[in-house]
Amino acid sequence: MINKRGLGTVGDRADHTGTVLRVDLTGIVANWRTLAVRVAPADCAAVVKADAYGLGASQVSAALAAAGCRLFFVATLDEGIALRSTLPASCQIAVLNGPFPGSAEEFVFHGLIPVLNEPGQIADWAEIARRHGGLAAMLHVDTGMARLGLTAREFARLAEQGPQQSAIRWRALISHLACADQPPHPLNDLQHSRFASMCRRFGGLPASLAASSGIFLDRRFHFDFVRPGAALYGINPQPGTPNPLRQVVRLKGRILQVREVERGQSVGYGAAHVMERPGRLATVAVGYADGWLRSLSHRGSGRLGAKRLPLLGRVSMDLVVFDVTAADPSLARPGAFVELLDDDYGVDAAAADAGTIGYEILTALGRRCHRAYCGAPEPC
Ligand SMILES: Cc1ncc(COP(=O)(O)O)c(C=O)c1O
Repeated sequence: MINKRGLGTVGDRADHTGTVLRVDLTGIVANWRTLAVRVAPADCAAVVKADAYGLGASQVSAALAAAGCRLFFVATLDEGIALRSTLPASCQIAVLNGPFPGSAEEFVFHGLIPVLNEPGQIADWAEIARRHGGLAAMLHVDTGMARLGLTAREFARLAEQGPQQSAIRWRALISHLACADQPPHPLNDLQHSRFASMCRRFGGLPASLAASSGIFLDRRFHFDFVRPGAALYGINPQPGTPNPLRQVVRLKGRILQVREVERGQSVGYGAAHVMERPGRLATVAVGYADGWLRSLSHRGSGRLGAKRLPLLGRVSMDLVVFDVTAADPSLARPGAFVELLDDDYGVDAAAADAGTIGYEILTALGRRCHRAYCGAPEPC
């Protein structure tokens, strides 16, 4: 719908924010199906922590639940509580960080499944489970990452008692791969064999080792279910190879001002860029406060029509400057949008320019970006 100044869609609310993040829910569902088909007969869960990597956990999870996803992972109790009110009771929500001391009853109240990572969490949960006559949990074992999960010795002690020894109803055994984005890395096979042997010792529970990148290792890594996050959101799970997943975000920022500049004119803070020849500059309403990272200074780019626009000088809090000298002047005007992320320059490309990973590009996109959802039930 064109608004009264003919500058964009009313639904974008771009008059207010200047930056619009369009999330393609159909694309996220398509990515989930691609992964689910690849791992079948193993199941495919969905990792929607950090607000579905910044894209909106409630919208993303509702779309995935409608497509048939039944198991969702978040990181924190608050994320789990928020998601519980979105998802039908037939969907399970597991909380990767597990309970902090004193918060276990909240898990019970909200029907959340904790992932138990260390002996203290297990002892506390066992006590609460005894009082409630049995409670579900997942067990995380460390197979080589030294981050979360029982150490081999802690696991051996628990396994000696046997999985039936407490009131905890173990739902799954999980572990996490450290180097799955590097298929030849020897730690992949080592983690696989350690995990397989722990599964054998712990009574045939459903097992899960692979997240996005692990899905693209060989089938041995799929076990009973996989836990992708990044791949759902279009991040390439195997950098350096063609991305089998769809881009699901578009980010665009509005031009506030256009000016002609002379050779020798400096641009932005620190006068860090100096024009080598006369040109035209467009100042766009996006900055590091929106998650357009400061490390994109001098390196990022935008697009106007078919033209790539170099980003000049430093990214500031609310603004960046693009060189629009080569762009069609009828497009480079205040109120028009510069494309910042699209199919052509996706999350991984921006990450490469910023010297980071796609995960950080997505999760950095700030609350100030207006989020617009397309895909079921909205057209894209
Ligand atoms: C335990 C665990 N499982 C699954 C995931 C999802 O990983 P990815 O986004 O690489 O698919 C994460 C992400 O950090 C994780 O910590």
